[in-house]
Amino acid sequence: MIALVGDTEIAFDDIGSGLPVLFVHAFPLNRTMWEPQLGALVAECRCITVDCRGFGESPATPPFTMDRFADDLVGVLDSLQIERAVVVGLSMGGYTAFAMWRRHPKRFRALVLADTRAGADTPEGIQKRRDLIDVARTQGSTGVANLQISGMMGKTTRAKRPDVYDAMHRMMAQAPVDGVIGALEAMMARPDSAPTLATIDVPTLVIVGDEDVITPPKEARAMHEAIHGSRLEVLAGAGHLSNVERPAAFTAVVSEFLASLLYH
Ligand code: MLT
Repeated sequence: MIALVGDTEIAFDDIGSGLPVLFVHAFPLNRTMWEPQLGALVAECRCITVDCRGFGESPATPPFTMDRFADDLVGVLDSLQIERAVVVGLSMGGYTAFAMWRRHPKRFRALVLADTRAGADTPEGIQKRRDLIDVARTQGSTGVANLQISGMMGKTTRAKRPDVYDAMHRMMAQAPVDGVIGALEAMMARPDSAPTLATIDVPTLVIVGDEDVITPPKEARAMHEAIHGSRLEVLAGAGHLSNVERPAAFTAVVSEFLASLLYH
């Protein structure tokens, strides 16, 4: 499906019924990364998976900022006449969720932060983004995928699940170059969300793979400690893309969290 948001189109899927749950993908992936969750969760809730502008089927319409990504999500909710949703963001999806919380807190029923971090990029991190932009310009998304893929996967997946590794590499290599560059610029300019954490007053679940080297467990613990009443789940044997590396375990903790919302 397509939502017209301002001057661009945002692609999404909307399946299942009941509690709306909005899934926001990582960089440089697209909404299909949530497929492992949908099979089980569509029986329990209304799953809305969105392609951020510049990824999947959403065209790379500038400007690219985390705030714009967040407003695009709200545009999708508006198009579906959904007032509040559980927002599930993994990595860049988590950065987007922080921006959405700052701008549209009333649109949240609850929050799931997976394999993400609150802090802004360090100067070294910004330099790495600049280098990656050069790679995108000269070698395309395949060059970016080649450099990024091993960090995206935990060592267990790299050793034992070549199918998952290959599928994620393929998805990354298919990302439109303009979207990749736009998202890198948006991420390097994003503000520090650490001060935002104490303002989050909806039920929150923090998930991290214990082999995540991009946003390691210590980042998840720091978010968990700063978000009042939040829960933390560490998934053994998963890296940064914990939802595809340990799909059943990831889905189970999200499912249990969604069920717990009945009592909030
Ligand atoms: C992601 O998975 O979205 C990226 O690793 C986030 C980042 O590069 O900071």
